[in-house]
Amino acid sequence: MTEKKWWQRAVFYQIYPRSFADGNGDGIGDFTGMIEKVDYLHWLGVDAVWLSPHFPSPQVDWGYDVSDYYGVAPEYGTMEQFMQFMEELHRRDMRLVLDLVLNHTSDQHSWFLESRSSRDNPKRDWYIWKPPRNGGLPNDWFSTFGGPAWTFDPLTGEYYYHFFFAGQPDLNWKNPEVKQAMFDVVRYWLRLGVDGFRLDAVGTIFERENYPDHATGDTLDDLYRDARRAKTTKEQRLVNRRWLRMFRHQVDMPEVHDLMRELRCVVNEFPDKVLIGETEDLRFYGNGEDELHLNFNFPLMRTNRLTPHWVRKNQRERLSALPDGAWPCNTLNNHDAGRMKSQFGDGKHDDQIARVNLALLLTLKGTPFLYNGEEIGMVNHNGLKVEDFRDPLSLRAYQLEIELLGSPAHEAEVFASDYGRDKCRTPLHWSNSPNAGFCPAEVKPWLPVHPNYADGVNVEEQKKNPDSLLNYYHRLLQLRKELPALIEGEYQPLDESHPAVFSFLRYTAQQTCLIALNMKSHRARVNLPENIKNLRCVFSTHRSEDLPRGNNLTLQPFEVWIGVTDMA
Ligand code: NOJ
Ligand code: CA
Repeated sequence: MTEKKWWQRAVFYQIYPRSFADGNGDGIGDFTGMIEKVDYLHWLGVDAVWLSPHFPSPQVDWGYDVSDYYGVAPEYGTMEQFMQFMEELHRRDMRLVLDLVLNHTSDQHSWFLESRSSRDNPKRDWYIWKPPRNGGLPNDWFSTFGGPAWTFDPLTGEYYYHFFFAGQPDLNWKNPEVKQAMFDVVRYWLRLGVDGFRLDAVGTIFERENYPDHATGDTLDDLYRDARRAKTTKEQRLVNRRWLRMFRHQVDMPEVHDLMRELRCVVNEFPDKVLIGETEDLRFYGNGEDELHLNFNFPLMRTNRLTPHWVRKNQRERLSALPDGAWPCNTLNNHDAGRMKSQFGDGKHDDQIARVNLALLLTLKGTPFLYNGEEIGMVNHNGLKVEDFRDPLSLRAYQLEIELLGSPAHEAEVFASDYGRDKCRTPLHWSNSPNAGFCPAEVKPWLPVHPNYADGVNVEEQKKNPDSLLNYYHRLLQLRKELPALIEGEYQPLDESHPAVFSFLRYTAQQTCLIALNMKSHRARVNLPENIKNLRCVFSTHRSEDLPRGNNLTLQPFEVWIGVTDMA
């Protein structure tokens, strides 16, 4: 077996910088805060950090609208502090991966300011400009974030294209100068010592030649309304299909794979770096060695209950479709998707379910990504008020609920709080002090703190409690490091029709781990394969000693059981 790379062995931890730790007490997370928490991350047992954008930005889309790829947002700190953060991580043998937004810049980026300044500016063609068609929009495309994909600029009388917000104009990647400018950015950060990049929205980089109309007759508002009215999974699927048709000229163009291969070559100029695609599309693995190293298994998350059936099917489909040499990558939440404890809980056993789900994430084949705050069981903040909304998508949903669906304002507020992304971006809870110890009591944090910090959902109290979720994360992360089969091993599902227990092997020539996860709230028995002898329990959420077993194992509700056998 070939020696695994660091990014195949690592557990990643996503930091959302604005909400992670506020070091200077202004209610906004920053590098001073991050530097103070490096020891915490090391103690927790994660191996690498994915840092959501830290670059200067007007913060229309909270950093995903970059106005300078060479700097640090002043509210987050200075370049020196960035370097210190990276060095502190490296000193503890942890890695740092940055978030690279390739598809678009901010409309305040100097490239765009130049581009819009006149039709014959040398950077005009760095973005996508089109003249009006019949005095109106150049075509019928929408922005996925609402409204037309084109914004008129009176200065030069043309429209520019944006897949996301109007403050995020798309770069024209068909222009070789754009590519060179961005490759310079890539080399700059790699030279400084970062360990790789998470590539934002890679599927949106190119558009169909000649910009044809989607001509579906649908509008984005139609889709919003019909998605809200869809009652069954079938109806929801139909709306999704209409969405895909509407955007078919704006995403997943084949040229992107040539670009990814070129980018891989740039990254290969530096030893041992990683590229992670914000995409579930397996084509971004290329031939397994020539495009991106990791692409997220988002389909795993696309449910509100992780059941044995769901996970087995996901693994069967995903692992068999990977090209040779490609390595899987799993996650259960991030800054867009909502928090895992809220997403997969049943409202009654959420803490136990969160434990089963972490065990799942850390024992499946592939690189796991955690999202800051999940380790203490932070949940979505669904009680946000309209005046607290910071994500323009929350505000858009609020408006549409009222204007399109005629909902009363208070109902629209509740819905929009859950629809938008603010709910999973609230400040991390460090202690049971006012504002969860994120910022001083008298300061208003940039997003409200979830009140459950006072009910034990905070780092300080959980660290002291051996039975807390935080200590459970700590223990399981250590265990993963001690069991090579959990990192390197092949995957083999067991007892494949069991409705409650997801059991499987991870095995190498030297070690076999048997993982049994009871995903249900009743006791359940699972068969053990007869050919696996001398299995010893190395971890269980429910028992402290290894009880004698025959060829089956009885698991308590939501029990996580891990057994190991080592070859002599
Ligand atoms: C994906 C990012 O994760 C999301 O937060 C952002 O809004 C879009 N890409 C646009 O950059
Ligand atoms: Ca701050």
